[in-house]
Amino acid sequence: PSSDVSLTINGERHALTVDNRTSLLDLLRERLGLTGTKKGCDQGACGACTVLVNDKRVNACLTLAVRCDSSAVTTIEGLADGDRLHPLQKAFVERDAFQCGYCTPGQIMSGVGCISEGHAGSREEIREWMSGNICRCGCYVNIVSAVRDAAD
Ligand code: FES
Repeated sequence: PSSDVSLTINGERHALTVDNRTSLLDLLRERLGLTGTKKGCDQGACGACTVLVNDKRVNACLTLAVRCDSSAVTTIEGLADGDRLHPLQKAFVERDAFQCGYCTPGQIMSGVGCISEGHAGSREEIREWMSGNICRCGCYVNIVSAVRDAAD
């Protein structure tokens, strides 16, 4: 079975018919070509697929697209303002907060949620909040520094 949904993604309205089993992650990547959101584990364990739904952080792999009907979704593609990076994107560059970069979109979206939801008060708080975002290159120290910088 499928359903009609209407979503605003990075400020753009989309009216779509989706299979009820489609995850938000597959909708973004496969239907809409928004491949900045990464698929790591596809089961809620790595955080690579983190996006914001109505400004709240979610794992897109665990979220059914039909549950996002009438919602506003923000992905990594929606953060920069033209050529101007979002302050957290800028902080990631300045702090050298990545190596391979695969987890970076999820880390940044999670970090944006961390700041906007008021959990960036200390390094410990950020570590706790971001603990669902795995970085196999081990850039955690610099990721936390970037989130702290952008929060100030
Ligand atoms: Fe969604 Fe790993 S791909 S948490």
